[in-house]
Amino acid sequence: MQTDYDAVPYPSLSYAQTHPDRLATIATLLGLQPKPVTRCRVLELGCAGGGNLLPMAQALPGSEFVGVDASQAQIDTGSLAVRSIGLRNVELRALDILDIAPEMGVFDYIIAHGVYSWVPPQVRDKVLQVCQDHLAPQGVAYISYNSYPGWHMMGILRDAMLYRTRDIADPTERATTARSLLDFMSEAIPADNTALGAFLKSYMRFLQGELKGVSARGNAFLLHDELERVNDPVYFSQFAGHAARHGLQFLAEAEFTDVFPKGFSESTLETLQKMARDIVEMEQYSDFLRSRMFRQTLLCRQEVEVHRALSVSLLSHLWAASRSQPANKEPNLCDVSPEQFRAPDGGVLTTDHPVSKAALLHLTSIYPRAASFGELLAVARDAVNASQEKLANDIISLQANLLKAYTYSSQLVELHTYTPALSLQMSSLPIASPVARHEARDSLIVTNAWHERAHLTPLRQRLLMLLDGAHDHDLLVATLAEWDPSGESGSLSEHLQWFARAALLVA
Ligand SMILES: C[S@@+](CC[C@H](N)C(=O)[O-])C[C@H]1O[C@@H](n2cnc3c(N)ncnc32)[C@H](O)[C@@H]1O
Repeated sequence: MQTDYDAVPYPSLSYAQTHPDRLATIATLLGLQPKPVTRCRVLELGCAGGGNLLPMAQALPGSEFVGVDASQAQIDTGSLAVRSIGLRNVELRALDILDIAPEMGVFDYIIAHGVYSWVPPQVRDKVLQVCQDHLAPQGVAYISYNSYPGWHMMGILRDAMLYRTRDIADPTERATTARSLLDFMSEAIPADNTALGAFLKSYMRFLQGELKGVSARGNAFLLHDELERVNDPVYFSQFAGHAARHGLQFLAEAEFTDVFPKGFSESTLETLQKMARDIVEMEQYSDFLRSRMFRQTLLCRQEVEVHRALSVSLLSHLWAASRSQPANKEPNLCDVSPEQFRAPDGGVLTTDHPVSKAALLHLTSIYPRAASFGELLAVARDAVNASQEKLANDIISLQANLLKAYTYSSQLVELHTYTPALSLQMSSLPIASPVARHEARDSLIVTNAWHERAHLTPLRQRLLMLLDGAHDHDLLVATLAEWDPSGESGSLSEHLQWFARAALLVA
């Protein structure tokens, strides 16, 4: 079957919000008992060239990954990468979602990113049917889709681009012509005093961010995301209704910070709670207030009991990491003076609880590693010489602080169900993630051990490919001196530290 994606492949990238660990963490907090991600089965529908699945398979060697996509060309590219990297736990199949049969078995996590809104109704229905037929009893499905009411505004731009390109058949020319129209419109429409102008400005910012590092393939995003023949946004309530007809219920959004809407006053929240009769109505009303145009919804089976009142004790089963920094270089841990920790996304945690302060400080010092709750509690209590009588209080206060920070900012405290293999020590034969080295062959964007995208400079792109355990320190120093004789990009050890901090070194 020849598809549009064979002619112009989709830039196949990783999406941190789809990782089984993210799904398992949220499910655990909501009272489910999801399968440990270190030994689970994962299915991705519409996996393109495997850009999302391959880094997961590398990070979780004890788990099994299956990806299906109708585009043979994309599957061939992905399968070549699987063989070249030497991954044994992932299989990519050229298969129409409509042809998925029961033999495929049961999966603990099912992912469909960028598929639901972009396929005809019968395929959309089959996506949910696959979840109904193949999801494990405590399994979690991730489905992203364009949503109304926000997409009404994007629809204006889509209609303008479709109109402008209506006589153009060549996909690349369609994309460049559409892009020029957007550039023209964003200059022609004042951003300040019209709703469309303000929207256009923020969309252009998004497009530029999305294209950073993939400019050569960037037009493919525009072509497939906005100009695809099928592009059917839905209201959240319609999506939830569709899921319910397949025995599935709304669990949460994949960005956990979205679960507790920020920026609404107490009285707004009170009114919302009075208006909404259930969680679906609550989410739908908040979409109206926020003009949401895209959702990344997690579903579970209808018979599963979801505990929406979060219990802090569940933190004991999780791991924590933090990319925050203390506001004071040397925070005072021993008394109850308040200290602040700030994350790059603006999130701030202020606490006067000595053990929480010591715990946050420990996390900032070991980042990108995560610590289990047990390790964190022990290290932090040790650091402040905490007494035995305070143990119960320390556990509850630390759990509450970590949970509060996690719901507020995705960078202040990250919660996980496991920690991947990561190296922070500089070895004489450094090894970077094999998948990242493969991605670096033709991209400045690579995936790190936490399944996040790391952006490389062209020099680091070349250097990363040499971190294969066969190039020793002296050889790397000599190569770097050749590429950058003035040494202005930094020393080898500075680059290696950057790679370690970016969670790209595995040994
Ligand atoms: C917008 S792309 C998203 C790709 C990838 N999930 C991502 O987010 O980067 C949609 C993908 O779904 C695939 N697709 C569309 N219809 C399909 C079908 N009926 N069966 C299998 N794959 C399909 C396309 O080939 C394409 O790779």
